[in-house]
Amino acid sequence: MAVGIFDSGLGGLTVLDAVEKRLPDVPFVYFGDNAHAPYGVRDADDVYDLTTRAVSRLWDAGCDLVILACNTASAAALRRMQENWVPRDKRVLGVFVPLIEALTERQWGDNSPPREVAVKHVALFATPATVSSRAFQRELAFRAIGVDVEAQACGGVVDAIEEGDMILAEALVRSHVDALKRKMPNPEAAILGCTHYPLMQNVFQDALGPDVQVYSQANLVAESLADYLTRHPAMLGSGTEAAFLTTGDPKRVSSRATQFLRREIIFSAA
Ligand code: DGL
Repeated sequence: MAVGIFDSGLGGLTVLDAVEKRLPDVPFVYFGDNAHAPYGVRDADDVYDLTTRAVSRLWDAGCDLVILACNTASAAALRRMQENWVPRDKRVLGVFVPLIEALTERQWGDNSPPREVAVKHVALFATPATVSSRAFQRELAFRAIGVDVEAQACGGVVDAIEEGDMILAEALVRSHVDALKRKMPNPEAAILGCTHYPLMQNVFQDALGPDVQVYSQANLVAESLADYLTRHPAMLGSGTEAAFLTTGDPKRVSSRATQFLRREIIFSAA
């Protein structure tokens, strides 16, 4: 049994860390497409091609279920993959829905009509591709009415994190929060709509102020995966070994991952 976790690079490690803690007996195979990150500046066809290639590799590693721990791939490619590409005996799930269910106070899979919810002013921070897809707003509109969403495309943040330049990443986050606040001075909630951003969560919270509730995906996805596996135990694939795979330089990626998760992570070539 093994479950695949995919991201364009290091951001999905924030999700991996949470799912490992929630499901300690499940081996996870992580795939970081570091050679092609960031995805956030690519067009939808490009993201689709890269994501399907990576997911195929995870199937080869014995994962029948793959989590796209990447909002950009979830926004730009997931629906097309589910409609035309994923074979019957496999599943690919994204990271948007658990977050939106939390924001809109819904239980898993509650498909009742959209209704009013407590938060009215929501700031969305995501990559340029995720923002321009409007996938977040679309999913939100299925579940809630009367929510004003202001989106900020956070150019450069993923690149800086992938390069390990956390000083630049912090400066960029602060300037993106300032830009958002010029458009929406008093958001009640902020969505970190990119799995790299929890690595900067303290900076987002500090720049937004203590009154803004910051939602990030890792724990929400972990809960939702645990629930899914209880209902679909057959989706635990045939793989038995945990692994970290990268299309980038394994040494460099291992060292950054070790720094982020504060434990030794060893990547091998995908
Ligand atoms: N972690 C990816 C996400 O959640 C980053 C995408 C990118 O590579 O730009 O969107």
